[in-house]
Amino acid sequence: MRRFIALLLVSGVAVFGKAMAEDTEQLNGLLLKNQCLACHTVDKRKYGPVLREVAAKYAGDASATAKLAAKIKAGGTGVWGDDIMPPQGHVSDADAKQIATMILALEPKK
Ligand code: HEC
Repeated sequence: MRRFIALLLVSGVAVFGKAMAEDTEQLNGLLLKNQCLACHTVDKRKYGPVLREVAAKYAGDASATAKLAAKIKAGGTGVWGDDIMPPQGHVSDADAKQIATMILALEPKK
């Protein structure tokens, strides 16, 4: 219990009052539904960047949610190296925004 409270405190400080707490179960469901898991997971390096590292990179960037939601649909390259993320046109606007929000709510690497 004490550890749980400590974790809550740490995450509260780390995300600077972002509206959402980490919920990897719901995030993984969305990643599965939208076929992201072949290239990304929360904690393990696959073809694309580790999503927990994405959260760290954009910590404190107020425009990150919109930026990442757009990138999720459009794909692109050059931010994390030369690998290319193909466009993900099958992702709905609502899912793209929610996935971006949930990625950004991931706590820094444990
Ligand atoms: C074929 C592999 C592949 C698939 C499928 C894929 N990605 Fe990516 N993703 C990448 C690569 C490679 C990058 C790095 C692009 C770059 O460096 O600009 C990336 C980057 C990202 C980033 C960081 C963007 C940035 O500019 O920092 C996010 C967020 C992301 N992907 C989410 C998703 C989501 C959500 C899905 C599923 C709808 C998905 N990706 C599907 C390969 C993939």
